[in-house]
Amino acid sequence: MEFISFKSYEELSAAAADIISKQIVENPSSVLGLATGSSPLGIYAELAKRCARGELDFSLIRTVNLDEYAGLSADCEQSYRFFMNKNLFEKINIKLSNTHVPDGTAKDAQAECSRYDELVKKLGGIDLQLLGIGPDGHIGFNEPDSRFIKETHLTELSPSTTEANARFFKSKEEVPKKALTLGMGGIFGAKKIVLVANGPSKKEIVNKAFFGPITPKVPASLLQLHPDTVVMYSEV
Ligand code: GLP
Repeated sequence: MEFISFKSYEELSAAAADIISKQIVENPSSVLGLATGSSPLGIYAELAKRCARGELDFSLIRTVNLDEYAGLSADCEQSYRFFMNKNLFEKINIKLSNTHVPDGTAKDAQAECSRYDELVKKLGGIDLQLLGIGPDGHIGFNEPDSRFIKETHLTELSPSTTEANARFFKSKEEVPKKALTLGMGGIFGAKKIVLVANGPSKKEIVNKAFFGPITPKVPASLLQLHPDTVVMYSEV
């Protein structure tokens, strides 16, 4: 695991966009694992700019998103499918049919989770996984637990996650209680991982996750064992 500090969010976003751009240029049909949250927004804006300038071609790129709130459909503004369409997919030349997000409205959540793991397998695995980190150390929606859960699963969101994500909803009560998330196996199986975190509020969890003990109580800590992970942090 490599850890890089940046002087600003802009610098961090440009450097992370460089890594993703290199991946796309070297393998134009790469499978990108994508994340939501505020941290990747600067990266997505930068990738969209590069695509508009003709420097990047997404026409053969496939994407798999990490997670989705249970019960939210694609046309709901708070859903992660809506977020991805608005902040990235509508701004680049990707085929929407090549983009994948777990279906939060699936009646049989367990079947949807198995389908998602199969899909990742069929795509040949994830070439590059982009991650943020939650205040409790979650990645995707892999919440602190007594064990690392390998498979895609339906999870209950922790109070800290509900609190942190309430800013995207009218009230805390509106935040869904559950979500579907790619498991730790799917994330860890990515050939390359780029985790981005910014702001003073992430300092403590970044220290805990990447310089503390490896434990399922801090899910991101497992990345310390991944052979090709870069953690990019900017305090500002
Ligand atoms: C959500 C997402 C995570 C993301 C986290 C951090 O909980 N499920 O994938 O990493 O938010 O978000 P932010 O970058 O806004 O702090």
